[in-house]
Amino acid sequence: MGIAARTGPVSEQPHSDVLVIFGFSGDLVAKKIFPALYAMVKKGALTVPVIGVASRNWATEEWHTHVRESLLHEGHEGGIDDPAAFDRLIALLSYVSGDYNDAVTFTALKTALGPAKRPAFYLAIPPSLFGTVIESLGRADLARDARVIVEKPFGRDLASAGELNKVAQAVFPESEIFRIDHYLGKEAIMNILYFRFANSFLEPVWNRHHIASVQITLAEDFGVGTRGSFYESAGCLRDVVENHLFQVIALLAMEPPAFQSFQAVHNDKTSVLRAMVPLKPADLVRGQYTGYREEDGVAADSDVETFCALRLFINSPRWAGVSWYLRAGKRLPNSVVEVQVQMRPPPQQLFDDSGPAGGRANYYRFRLQPKASIALAARIKRPGKEFVGVQRELFLGEDDPSPMTTYERLLGDAMAGDGALFTDEDAVMAAWAVVEPVLNAHGPVLPYAQGSWGPAEADELIADDGGWHAPIVDAPVTATPAQGDSQ
Ligand code: BG6
Repeated sequence: MGIAARTGPVSEQPHSDVLVIFGFSGDLVAKKIFPALYAMVKKGALTVPVIGVASRNWATEEWHTHVRESLLHEGHEGGIDDPAAFDRLIALLSYVSGDYNDAVTFTALKTALGPAKRPAFYLAIPPSLFGTVIESLGRADLARDARVIVEKPFGRDLASAGELNKVAQAVFPESEIFRIDHYLGKEAIMNILYFRFANSFLEPVWNRHHIASVQITLAEDFGVGTRGSFYESAGCLRDVVENHLFQVIALLAMEPPAFQSFQAVHNDKTSVLRAMVPLKPADLVRGQYTGYREEDGVAADSDVETFCALRLFINSPRWAGVSWYLRAGKRLPNSVVEVQVQMRPPPQQLFDDSGPAGGRANYYRFRLQPKASIALAARIKRPGKEFVGVQRELFLGEDDPSPMTTYERLLGDAMAGDGALFTDEDAVMAAWAVVEPVLNAHGPVLPYAQGSWGPAEADELIADDGGWHAPIVDAPVTATPAQGDSQ
């Protein structure tokens, strides 16, 4: 799209002249932000100072070591393949240590900001501290001409998200509040928008008349690791469903934007979230992997879900009556994110294996992770006398790695004042409204074995719509035998 319509074309937005990172010593910064900053420095895309803020009383040598070790850490995106770029990154960085509840921290930050006029404040801190830090920035007169970039989850429920919006908007104009949902910075997610509206074959069938149901799986084969105490305050529904997966649904289900503008995209996505029918307890299955309660920072009697499966409906002319099934969880069989859009079968039973009583009908498959791809499953006749066939996938694979990591893209955009890939107040509130009824009113978590697909109740939820189709993790780039079909 040519225009990022927050308040005008991107080029009109002034660039931030310093980036301040709250939560500098945290997990997210170590894993994702240092690699993003390093990559930006390497490409010449980051030349302004970066100030880290955290409570640790680190000497210069100590936080230098922390940055280096984070970049070299095996499980993190990154590595250091350009020592000169690393030195340039260190030269741009400085560090302020202090308590977020103490005004002295913000006075020290003001001094560190020096002559900077347009700071971007990035809050990679526990959500319970967002309000405190934003208000302190206002009180210390640091918010003038500044931007704030807020990590998810934005609030814990409808009321707290509303409260946080109020606090943020009292200090920053809405156009300078950047709410991160890092899924929006992923190439595969952007490609949903492109694929849907850059092709003409999809639109005629992309509706309740041709689509029977949609299922989306966000599976991770790892547990909560060092994030136990954060996870205890979130759980799967808040952590990845009401934000990441709802954004994926919004892109899949939105109406075509009427004109070329990201504001139009935002509006049409928000319309989908508003048309979602609020969840009922019977629509949700919550699971917890065995061993979760022994993880660091987790309560011995925790009722927090590490898995959830749910069914939801979008009450719009395009989607009325179509079930959307979502499942997400940790310690599942593999790490994969995939959408499967199940088409209706041909209306007539012309062949035994295709039609209402035949095998699995055609489907579209969007694999979003680990490697993005799109596949369309179609039936072809097998050679021979009999009119029986097989379903094959037409596979669109894109092997080129993204030129940018997600956070490189998002931090760069926010500092440039481009809000296209961020969520806005309306979308955040609409998403919370959908999950609000089940945040507290739900059954207890059901245990599931590590490495399984969650509790059996998750299968019952979708039984009438053909069951869950296991995502294909390593699909080849040529024709793939389709799922649910005998060969
Ligand atoms: C984060 C969640 O928002 O998304 C994590 O807090 C989850 O629990 C992560 O693992 C998944 O995103 P990605 O991009 O790391 O696959």
